[in-house]
Amino acid sequence: MKLLVTGGAGFIGSHFIHFWLSRHPQDQIVNLDCLTYAGSRSRLADVEGDHRYAFIEGDICEPQIVEQAMSGCETVVHFAAESHVDRSITDAAPFIRTNVEGTSVLLQQAQRQGIQRFIQISTDEVYGPVLDGAVDEQAPLSPRSPYAASKAAGDLLAQAFHKTYRVPVIVVRPTNIYGPGQFPEKFIPLSITNATEGLPIPIYGDGRQRRAWLFAADLCEALDVVIRRGAIGEIYNVAGGMEQANLETAEAILASLGRSQALLELVTDRPGHDRRYAMDDAKLRALGWRPQVSFEQGLQETIAWYRAHTDWWRPLVQKLREDPYHWLNRAARSSPPQASGAVL
Ligand SMILES: NC(=O)c1ccc[n+]([C@@H]2O[C@H](COP(=O)([O-])OP(=O)(O)OC[C@H]3O[C@@H](n4cnc5c(N)ncnc54)[C@H](O)[C@@H]3O)[C@@H](O)[C@H]2O)c1
Repeated sequence: MKLLVTGGAGFIGSHFIHFWLSRHPQDQIVNLDCLTYAGSRSRLADVEGDHRYAFIEGDICEPQIVEQAMSGCETVVHFAAESHVDRSITDAAPFIRTNVEGTSVLLQQAQRQGIQRFIQISTDEVYGPVLDGAVDEQAPLSPRSPYAASKAAGDLLAQAFHKTYRVPVIVVRPTNIYGPGQFPEKFIPLSITNATEGLPIPIYGDGRQRRAWLFAADLCEALDVVIRRGAIGEIYNVAGGMEQANLETAEAILASLGRSQALLELVTDRPGHDRRYAMDDAKLRALGWRPQVSFEQGLQETIAWYRAHTDWWRPLVQKLREDPYHWLNRAARSSPPQASGAVL
């Protein structure tokens, strides 16, 4: 099988490419990625020479590039996105462009080329806050940030292309993912890198927002199950079963690194910050998927990776701190509470 992976130079996409080439050695992958600040070919340096892998630097909003990249592929796994909630609050435009228009370009091309499976990577954030219990795939969408709204739009477009044109879409809605190689503006890598350098870990509001965490390798296993056994036209939540307050996550990171809990710094909450997400993933589990990596194991593996790859993240963190408008810069200087804080 030949797959088109969009956004494969990003955090999850690169995990997926490594996973897929190892699990399905006969398959071929084309990675279409325009290398935004969040994308890096270095994540895939080890497969660059592999005859089963091809990289195309290009934008999913460009129909001609998408047509060329999709040519001969049976399956599309669409990860490419603007993915950082805080950036969407500062400027929603790139989110609408990539997450909505780019998804539309891909779907139109999938229709033209007769793609056999189109996996739309959505997010738990499309449901909005879930204060009690857990939502299944039938729950209404109620996104509250521009990021979540743009992802909901892409998710609904994908469903509409299935219903209207029979494009063989499957929508996957993963919970918060963490693991090696995540860009250091996201909550877990930010906490690890700041704590490593003895800098405060900024936490929004009272830190009691609850999130479910899933290790990147477990999401790859879930996608393997969905691609091979998922039903066309269906939606699958990928939750994982654990949840905890952001404060608990940061405390665990400080404890693992042997750093003082005094590095925790509560800062003013961000607008529209959802209190809790919680999904029921019984539908996916019925296909045989179970998460294999506990949060404790996954966190140790992630911390070990950041310890061993300071050359990778230090320049990225440095660049973020040089941006006078970036909250990380202000947080690193122990700014007053009007600075925003750690995000998911
Ligand atoms: N990280 C999470 O916790 C999480 C949770 C649920 C869903 N998701 C979804 O999973 C997907 C991947 O997330 P991630 O954390 O790996 O994101 P990421 O920001 O690390 O990577 C995104 C990749 O997409 C590429 N890209 C962006 N715009 C593009 C464009 N116009 N054309 C081509 N490439 C473009 C970037 O260069 C980058 O390599 C996204 O769709 C995201 O919404 C992520």
